[in-house]
Amino acid sequence: LQARIRAHLKMRGLSLQLADQARLASAGTLAAGLAHEVKNPLNAAVNAARVLQQGGSSRVSNERLMGVIIDALDRINGVISALDAHARPADGTDLAPCDVRQAVRSTLDLLEHKMKQIHVHEDYEVTGEVFAPARAFNQVLLNLVDNSVRSGASNIWIELRQVDKLVSVSVADDGPGVPPDAVHRIFDPFFTTRVEGEGTGLGLHLSRRIAQECGGELRYEPRPGGGARFVMEIPAMEQAA
Ligand SMILES: Nc1ncnc2c1ncn2[C@@H]1O[C@H](COP(=O)(O)OP(=O)(O)OP(=O)(O)O)[C@@H](O)[C@H]1O
Ligand SMILES: [Mg+2]
Repeated sequence: LQARIRAHLKMRGLSLQLADQARLASAGTLAAGLAHEVKNPLNAAVNAARVLQQGGSSRVSNERLMGVIIDALDRINGVISALDAHARPADGTDLAPCDVRQAVRSTLDLLEHKMKQIHVHEDYEVTGEVFAPARAFNQVLLNLVDNSVRSGASNIWIELRQVDKLVSVSVADDGPGVPPDAVHRIFDPFFTTRVEGEGTGLGLHLSRRIAQECGGELRYEPRPGGGARFVMEIPAMEQAA
């Protein structure tokens, strides 16, 4: 029992470190996008409030100005809630029962502002209950979907399957895919093809480590028909627990 507890604590420590690193890795790009998402409605609200403060306008009613403020605050609320749900799911860093479908949902909510031109096809055969550190696990999905979005894809396919005791989550896109000469390097730390400042090259490296910590694996394969496909397979909860 002691060995088991020690292993659990060690895993927990690792998860904590990884989660922090992974958060840092994608924090830059994500923060830029989210700041923009908050700033626009914030400006609208401030402008409308100023007009009201100065006694209103002869061209629009006060109700309309208040409507602008309320809509703006609703939008900001939505962004913050999405961020919160993703970054602090229940039991954040502990290995705990974790619902893959839920993790996908909170990831898509968080990236919604970057995905307006993208068609997301969701195909879930199961809920996908796994035993994982929820925060780090969400980070894997964020990394994968973020990569697909940034590949310039028009379509993203997310599939959730369970084959025997393995839950498999696949994120595929119809972007250009990974060039054959880069395939063996994409999981290396700091390997990136992005221009300086736009990526650390840690996303996939950390994602694979997190998948492995959950007792699973993350691999790449070209998508039949063009594009990239990342498949994460981790033990279903009954198995891992
Ligand atoms: N869906 C994808 N389509 C095409 N290429 C991809 C895809 N996902 C990853 N890659 C390639 O793999 C490289 C490494 O990806 P990784 O997520 O590790 O780092 P990054 O996205 O460059 O930086 P970061 O994740 O830190 O923002 C990318 O720079 C890109 O060249
Ligand atoms: Mg990435």
